[in-house]
Amino acid sequence: MPVADDLCTTPAGRRCLELVRELSGAGPDGPMERHSVRVVLLAEELARRTGRAIDHEVVLCAGLLHDLGLYPGAATKAAYVTDGRHLAERELTALGWDAARVRLAADAVEHHHELTAQWARGNEVELLRKADLVEVSHGLVMAGVPRPFYRDLLRRVPRDGFVPEVLRGLGAALRERPGSLWRIARPG
Ligand SMILES: [Fe+2]
Repeated sequence: MPVADDLCTTPAGRRCLELVRELSGAGPDGPMERHSVRVVLLAEELARRTGRAIDHEVVLCAGLLHDLGLYPGAATKAAYVTDGRHLAERELTALGWDAARVRLAADAVEHHHELTAQWARGNEVELLRKADLVEVSHGLVMAGVPRPFYRDLLRRVPRDGFVPEVLRGLGAALRERPGSLWRIARPG
């Protein structure tokens, strides 16, 4: 069974996983699902190592949704991280989350490519940003994650297909909403 199924035990987690599978079009255990799972587990590990309190379900749901703005089912002409934010707001509100948790998850999605620390928006936001940085740099930036942890994670949840998947998404963004690309790192 894909690791994601073990992680997603709440209705919100299940719904977010369903969205990853639907919008990415890959079905269970696709490259984007595995990337999102690694981001969640990296953020969790960073929280544990640094003793920072987090809302685990917010990290889980934001981690699953964070790149879905890349896909046609969620994309508009906005920056893809902003489309991801709006998707998170719609879905998590529909699941009955209170406004503060929706906002925290939406911030984590929208600000995951910011170039500066985001602690002021919440631990979840900054830890997700760091976790994604480890992933997109392919471990060049470890952001406090021990290398053996990441190696083990890549064995459990392989990267296969991740780079072509992201390049496809960014290629579509470049063709269809080029003006939005610079706002990935500084939305809003
Ligand atoms: Fe990502």
